[in-house]
Amino acid sequence: MQERSEQDTVAYEVIDRIAWVRFNRPEKRNAMSPKLNRRMLEVLDELEYRDDVGVLVLTGEGQAWTAGMDLKEYFRETEAEGLRGIRRSQRESYGWWRRLRWYQKPTIAMVNGWCFGGGYGPLYACDLAFAAEEAKFGLSEINWGILPGGGATKVVVDLISLRDAMYHAMTGEMIDGAKAAEWHLVNEAVPAERLKARVTEVANVLLEKNPVALKATKDAVRRVKDMTYDNAEDFLVRAQEAANYYDNQGRKEGIRQFIDEKSYKPGLGAYDKERAGSDAE
Ligand code: COA
Repeated sequence: MQERSEQDTVAYEVIDRIAWVRFNRPEKRNAMSPKLNRRMLEVLDELEYRDDVGVLVLTGEGQAWTAGMDLKEYFRETEAEGLRGIRRSQRESYGWWRRLRWYQKPTIAMVNGWCFGGGYGPLYACDLAFAAEEAKFGLSEINWGILPGGGATKVVVDLISLRDAMYHAMTGEMIDGAKAAEWHLVNEAVPAERLKARVTEVANVLLEKNPVALKATKDAVRRVKDMTYDNAEDFLVRAQEAANYYDNQGRKEGIRQFIDEKSYKPGLGAYDKERAGSDAE
């Protein structure tokens, strides 16, 4: 096969306010090459502030979500360029993962198949993650002679128990989607044929919420994780006040529809943000 162009390493389309972004090197099990990393950053950039995008889903074309870093193009070829090449390719991959961690829109990883090594970076970067029960996850680094770098060790220590993280990293054994859900590496695992429907359902729930509050919430969850209680309390006051700057009407409308209009109950669902007042969109 002729080599895939950089442009073609990522595919995407926007349907009903959901941006479906796909790793698009199925012939290489969607391994992340420098070209793919550069293209992914461009695609994220293109979609982030589009008015017709409310949620971004990251998935993979073919059998893989992603088989991790491309051992040939990301490691061997950049190492041949010396430290300059190595650092450049690290900046490119870590760069788009960081961008995704703090993305303006809510993000969902839809793990359709293989997810190895470096793939744990974007997995963690997505706010939520859903997997096919049949998907396979592995920190395969130990199998080819390195430690789980590129944040992968941090990801498992943050998300799963220390015992499971240690076993997973030291043995290189794979787990399936069901086990990944049991370990809380992903939110949920469902049979492959139901995966897209389940992700669409969750995306539609998010689309009903106030987008300013969603961005403030997802950032708050990530930020407070490493804070003391007192620091978190203070940070959250300030984060809400900052959110009010972008959408002062939304929460007032939320209170109004509950207290005055009695048209919904916040404990049971979201207020109707399409009606009067909100400057959130
Ligand atoms: N880097 C570079 N190339 C990769 C790759 C990776 N991470 N993963 C797959 N490929 C390439 C293979 O070299 C092969 O290329 P070729 O057709 O030119 O020979 C092609 O993708 C298909 O891979 P193949 O191994 O034949 O597919 P498979 O379906 O039998 O197995 C995997 C799938 C994912 C189990 C296997 O490809 C694999 O172990 N990949 C490496 C996973 C890994 O350790 N990633 C961590 C990197 S940090």
